[in-house]
Amino acid sequence: MRGHDMRTAPPFDMVIFGSTGDLAKRKLLPALYYRFIAGGFPPDSRIIAVSRRDWDRNTYLSYAAECMQAFAKPGRFSAEKWASFAERLHYVRIESGHLEHYRNLSNVLSQVSPRVRVFFLSTAPDLFAEICKNLGEAGAVHGDSRVVLEKPLGRDLASSQRISDDVAQVFTEAQTFRIDHYLGKETVQNLMALRFGNALFEPLWRRDWVRDVQITVAEQVGVEERGEFYDRTGAARDMIQNHLLQLLCIVAMEPPTSIDSNSVRDEKLKVLRALQPLEGREAIAGTVRGQYRAGVSQGMPVRGFLEENGIDPQSRTETFVAMRAEIDTWRWAGVPFYMRTGKRLAERLAEIVITFRQVPHSIFGPGQLSLAPNRLVIRLQPDEGVRLSVLAKAPGDEIILRAVDLNLDLAQTYAGIQMDAYERLLMDAICGKLTLFLRRDELDAAWRWIDPIMEASERYGDKPKNYLAGTWGPAASTALLSRDGITWHEES
Ligand SMILES: NC(=O)c1ccc[n+]([C@@H]2O[C@H](COP(=O)([O-])OP(=O)(O)OC[C@H]3O[C@@H](n4cnc5c(N)ncnc54)[C@H](OP(=O)(O)O)[C@@H]3O)[C@@H](O)[C@H]2O)c1
Repeated sequence: MRGHDMRTAPPFDMVIFGSTGDLAKRKLLPALYYRFIAGGFPPDSRIIAVSRRDWDRNTYLSYAAECMQAFAKPGRFSAEKWASFAERLHYVRIESGHLEHYRNLSNVLSQVSPRVRVFFLSTAPDLFAEICKNLGEAGAVHGDSRVVLEKPLGRDLASSQRISDDVAQVFTEAQTFRIDHYLGKETVQNLMALRFGNALFEPLWRRDWVRDVQITVAEQVGVEERGEFYDRTGAARDMIQNHLLQLLCIVAMEPPTSIDSNSVRDEKLKVLRALQPLEGREAIAGTVRGQYRAGVSQGMPVRGFLEENGIDPQSRTETFVAMRAEIDTWRWAGVPFYMRTGKRLAERLAEIVITFRQVPHSIFGPGQLSLAPNRLVIRLQPDEGVRLSVLAKAPGDEIILRAVDLNLDLAQTYAGIQMDAYERLLMDAICGKLTLFLRRDELDAAWRWIDPIMEASERYGDKPKNYLAGTWGPAASTALLSRDGITWHEES
């Protein structure tokens, strides 16, 4: 479908702002290293690490090597390969407000033949405006430049638009790559391949045959070191606005005319615009917000959200949210889409579950119809795979139906050759492929849907419901579905 071989990529310089940060250490450097060992970089291509630290190149290289040893996947780090990767790795010190530092960067960039420039902004978003402006003023941005932006892109529509406006002063929309790393996951690509590469699913992919769709992204960790940020943000803004809505779009969109970026993004945008607004009391009724209390996670006692560092002890920020959404289109009218995400939940799990309707008439007797309906389970985490559960006859004299799985175990089948989401997305940014990145109008539409929900919970003083760490969230989350006669997948 898409080439991801470094050998076909254009020569590039990738500048990583925030190169000493957590994301760079855990994801960006390893992803670039894996792509490098998979096929090398185009001749002369470079990675230019940037941070405020007054370091020279060697200090950064030792730091990066230590990080790689700590964060590379088991067996993937080799000192010899690292040494040749390190030849491509440079360091420039930039304090975001100092224009002269950007001039140094500009000099470093202009020392080599013309090539693609990718500026990856892995810093807090309140620095984006300053960084873009200074890059522009220092003459570092040319026609073949791109900027990659990490979430969070705002905390509501207004702040998100300010970020977009500031970035747009320097980079065009076609140069702007807004990352949602869920879109880079192999299984999400596979969901598109399943839907649009097989004739089998399309006739069933609609209200006539789909009973409900559940999207869960569950974490076992708490707020970790991000207490202050999380207290200002909460689960709906941190996860639903981007990752879960993006997954919903991939499930619900109409077939695009091609895989090119605007065809796919146009269809996703239509889904976001067709989401039934949830406002006022309806938003409260269609949403369950929760906050974890002390409990047991992975066998260890853990503290509650209000006791975590950086959290206001009176905080009403949600660490869990479940929502019931509907999409007002001919294809999906009346089909509930449930989204759920939270911290300190029972498992680390990301999956999309599509439950089909039952057969209209059972020839096996009425009791058999209460058996499990067909389900397509698309799992993104912890292991990637796709499972279709069907009913089959259990061995024995009588016809007794049992659910069995048709299993597409991608993790097992493609062991060792699957790419991490950041590997794919970084390659796409270098190659200028925008399909898996959010366009500005998509981002705006997602905030337009979320904002009234957040406003309603503030206006009505909606207090998050307690749940014990290590469980599946507040009881009200189960009740949200039981009104429709449905249970969450893991409860059924
Ligand atoms: N960590 C994740 O897994 C993750 C996941 C998704 C999104 N994100 C987002 O990605 C961004 C980066 O996250 P992070 O966790 O890597 O943050 P972090 O660990 O706090 O790192 C921040 C980085 O920004 C640099 N920086 C801070 N102030 C600067 C300034 N004034 N001028 C130049 N550089 C400056 C820091 O450099 P110094 O070393 O010089 O301080 C550091 O390299 C954030 O917006 C975060 O929300 C992170």
